[in-house]
Amino acid sequence: MSKPVVLIAEELSPATVEALGPDFDVRSVDGTDRPALLAALADADAILVRSATKVDAEAIAAAPKLKVVARAGVGLDNVDIKAATAAGVMVVNAPTSNIISAAELTVGHILSLARHIPAAHAALAQGEWKRSAYTGVELYEKTVGIIGLGRIGALIATRLQAFGTNVIAYDPYITAARAQQLGVQTVSLDELLEQSDFITIHMPKTPETTGMIGTEQLARMKPTAFVVNVARGGLIDEDALHDALVNRTIAGAAVDVFVSEPPRDSPLLGLPNIVVTPHLGASTDEAQEKAGISVAKSVRLALAGELVPDA
Ligand code: MLT
Repeated sequence: MSKPVVLIAEELSPATVEALGPDFDVRSVDGTDRPALLAALADADAILVRSATKVDAEAIAAAPKLKVVARAGVGLDNVDIKAATAAGVMVVNAPTSNIISAAELTVGHILSLARHIPAAHAALAQGEWKRSAYTGVELYEKTVGIIGLGRIGALIATRLQAFGTNVIAYDPYITAARAQQLGVQTVSLDELLEQSDFITIHMPKTPETTGMIGTEQLARMKPTAFVVNVARGGLIDEDALHDALVNRTIAGAAVDVFVSEPPRDSPLLGLPNIVVTPHLGASTDEAQEKAGISVAKSVRLALAGELVPDA
């Protein structure tokens, strides 16, 4: 009897294949090459993806044997859950695999903005020794506003508190007890925007949260404020952010995620007061290993017809 086909559509940690074990026919395809993906799905019992492969209704229809879609990461926004459910396909993810990595990248971006590290590096690499041009600000005694105090937001809060910051948060779902336990004061979104020196957003992408930081919200921020998005492209409206950075109504931004990835021709990329990275929040050895092993285990269980516990 032939082995079930597990299709790996993006680069995953080698630990993923090890954790799958010998019982599967493991195949690879570039999930961003649409015709190749659709052709490869014809035989697939399971597909493993990160964020670049669109597992939409068309992809699911192209996969008559498909039983499980596994997303090696936190979000599920590149998987059409409705279409999968309608086709009887299970969808699993690894919701805690990369939260530390995402939190650490956020802290890195905040420090990069405060101290102009990327721009100073680029200048010196070109032979320019410009010390006064790169005078920064301390985090100490600054107010950091976290939009979304879930798993990642909470890790950022505790890490930034070690710098002597005052952490405030907006999160409609957080309980008072949890916020108190984290030493974080909860405020309204407007209060957060007006009071914070650094703002970082950690919300899932939904129709309600898309563009939740737009022209009006950016206008409420201090002219010295910095804003960070390591969560999902489009939570901060890209055109509004571009205008705020060009008009210097805020001091700067750091962006790891874009509406369209890679963000070809995005006017954000060339601005002097932005730091950009190519969706690196989950890109550490540790996070990739955890995500790969977690989804491999879920796929094994799902293809054996067993219950897949919540990760
Ligand atoms: C996630 O949702 O966990 C990440 O965006 C995954 C990734 O980097 O591919």
